[in-house]
Amino acid sequence: MADHGARLVLRDVAKRYGDVTALEPTSIEIEPGEFFSLIGPSGSGKSTLLGAVAGFIPPTGGHIEIDGDDVVSMPPFRRNIGMVFQNYALFPHMSVFDNVAFPLRLRKMAARDVRERVERMLATVRLPDMGKRAIGQLSGGQQQRVALARAAVYDPRILLMDEPLGALDKNLREEMQFEIKAFHRQIRATILYVTHDQDEAATMSDRIAIMNGGRIIQHGRPRELYEHPRNAFVASFLGDANLFEVDAASPAGDGLARVDIGGDVALKAAAPPGAGAVGGGSHVICVRPESIAIAEGTLTGEVACSNRIGGTVADAVYTAGTVRYRVKLDEARSVTVRLASQRQVELFDVGRPVTLTWPAADTLLIPKE
Ligand SMILES: Nc1ncnc2c1ncn2[C@@H]1O[C@H](COP(=O)(O)OP(=O)(O)OP(=O)(O)O)[C@@H](O)[C@H]1O
Ligand SMILES: [Mg+2]
Repeated sequence: MADHGARLVLRDVAKRYGDVTALEPTSIEIEPGEFFSLIGPSGSGKSTLLGAVAGFIPPTGGHIEIDGDDVVSMPPFRRNIGMVFQNYALFPHMSVFDNVAFPLRLRKMAARDVRERVERMLATVRLPDMGKRAIGQLSGGQQQRVALARAAVYDPRILLMDEPLGALDKNLREEMQFEIKAFHRQIRATILYVTHDQDEAATMSDRIAIMNGGRIIQHGRPRELYEHPRNAFVASFLGDANLFEVDAASPAGDGLARVDIGGDVALKAAAPPGAGAVGGGSHVICVRPESIAIAEGTLTGEVACSNRIGGTVADAVYTAGTVRYRVKLDEARSVTVRLASQRQVELFDVGRPVTLTWPAADTLLIPKE
C-alpha cells in the first residue's frame, strides 16, 4: 500500500471548448492523504476539473503538479492515478478477480504477485472469497466495491471518484460512504471526490470546494463553509438557509450590524469584520433553521440580544426526529424553522400565531455575490 497520498496542486487550470468556458482559471492545493470533495450544481465544472487531473481533458491553460512534478503533458496512464465512476465501468464478462487483476496484468506484474495483491485488495473492500463470481452475480454495492478495488490495486497515490455512489439507493449510499471512509483510512491515498450531494460531501471530506459556473466559489472544512458562507450561493447550497434581502445595514457596535429587511422588520446581525454601512440590493442575511426558537402568540418585553419576528404557522411537517415549520411573515416572505422533536415539545398547528426568536450571532450579513 502507498505509505501516503500525493500532494496535488492546481495553478490557474482552465478549460474552454470554443466559446464555452467549462472551467475558469482555478487554483487549489490538496494535501497528501486528504479527502477533498467538489460539489456544485450540474454543469459547474466538477468533472472537467477531475478530467484535467486524470489527463483525459487537456486544459487550455495552467499547471497541474503531483508531488511537485508538472503532469500536464504526461499521458494519463503515467500519472499513477486511480479512477472510480458512477457506472463502475467493470468488465461484465470477466470474473471479480480478473477485473481487479486487470490493471496489474496491464503493468506486466508477475502472476504470483497479482494473486497476492488482488486477494489483499478484495479483503480490504470486504469481498474475500468472491473472486470467482461473475460481475453480473453481484449487487450494486458489491460491484461498486469491485470498482474501488480495481482503482486502488496498483497503489495509486491519488484516487479520483466522480459520483461513485450516484447509481445506488439511499441506504446503500450511506453504507458505502462509511465503506469508502474506512477504505481511505487503509489505503491513505489522496482522494478527490465529486458529488452533488452536500450531505455526502460533509460526511466524508476533510475539505470541500463549492463550484458554480466553472469556478470554485469557496473551499474549506465542512463546518467552516456552513457557518461562514462567503455569499448567498454558498449559504443556500450547503444546508437549508433562510435568506432575506437587505434594504440597509449599518454598524451597531460590538461586531453587530443593525439590518433593515423591509416591512418594518429590523434585525441585529453579526457583521463581517470591518464592514461599514451597506446599501440595498447587495447583501442578504442568512439564518439557519435550527438557530430559531418558536413560541406561541405574540411575545412582549425585551429578549436579550435576540431577534424577534411574529408570523403564522403555514406548514408543519413531522419527520423522524425533527419538526419543520414554515412560518409566514407576510405575503411574500416565510421562514423555515427546524427543531429536534422531543416528546414534551408542543406542536403548533397550521394557522397559529407564533413568535420566532434567535440570537444576533446566528444572523449572518453576507454579500449576495
Ligand atoms: N466536450 C464539451 N464540449 C463543450 N462543452 C462541454 C464539453 N464538456 C463539458 N462541457 C461543458 O462544460 C461545463 C462543465 O461541465 P462538467 O461536465 O464539468 O460539469 P459537472 O459539474 O461535472 O456537471 P454534472 O454534475 O452534471 O456532472 C458544462 O457547461 C458542459 O456543458
Ligand atoms: Mg460531472
